Amino acid sequence: MYWDSFPVLLAHELRNPLSGICAHIEVLKELFDSHDPRLESLLSIEREIERINEIIQKILEFSRTGNITKKTIDFKEFLTEWWDTQIRKYKKQNINFELKIKGQIGKVQIDRRLIERVFDNIIDNSVYAIGNEKGEIKVSVYREKEYINIQFKDTGKGIPKENLKRIFDPFFTTSAKGMGLGLAISKRIIEAHNGKINVISNINKGTTFLVKLTAEKESRTNDSCSDCG
Ligand SMILES: Nc1ncnc2c1ncn2[C@@H]1O[C@H](COP(=O)(O)OP(=O)(O)OP(=O)(O)O)[C@@H](O)[C@H]1O
Ligand SMILES: [Mg+2]
Repeated sequence: MYWDSFPVLLAHELRNPLSGICAHIEVLKELFDSHDPRLESLLSIEREIERINEIIQKILEFSRTGNITKKTIDFKEFLTEWWDTQIRKYKKQNINFELKIKGQIGKVQIDRRLIERVFDNIIDNSVYAIGNEKGEIKVSVYREKEYINIQFKDTGKGIPKENLKRIFDPFFTTSAKGMGLGLAISKRIIEAHNGKINVISNINKGTTFLVKLTAEKESRTNDSCSDCG
């Protein structure tokens, strides 16, 4: 009950007054010229409201992950499309991105939007973990019997051992900007697809996430990858 309907109601109730506040800010902004220090205060209020909206959005996502609409898709096609948009997003970063799709992948039943969300969350975290350093993010996709494995490997700062157990907990975060919901949402989404998500990490070396999805029966092959570890 709590995660299913209460947050949705709460989000709707909060959104109305927030958009009211935004409308009033727009009116007030017109009253000051661009050098007026009071304008900066208004812009701060606007940014904070934006932040509240992001929080509401994430809580909604977290509570709605039970509502999935799966469709059969060609995984390679899906992944390539997602990759092209993802790379564009991080173009300015000092990061070398690499995507390897090994062998036949086949079809899978997924909620495209939600799985994209998971992959975005994992990449966002890797980009954050690399920071301003030079780094690499490598994504490898390969079949292992009925599983489609998607491995995300970064050269970021790594996750301390004591945090590894907690990274999938809602609101666990070590980031100043984060809410600690990205991986909690991702885990719920993957589990709603009967998949798995695991992590291994080495401090100062990097982190690897492995997502496992089950391929559609008719597209299953006996392909496996010997050098994907
Ligand atoms: N690739 C990674 N490298 C290093 N630490 C990571 C990595 N991925 C996750 N973490 C750790 O796990 C924590 C939780 O990640 P999660 O995505 O759930 O939340 P967040 O990124 O902090 O905030 P949000 O995703 O809500 O913006 C992070 O704050 C970070 O400490
Ligand atoms: Mg995150």
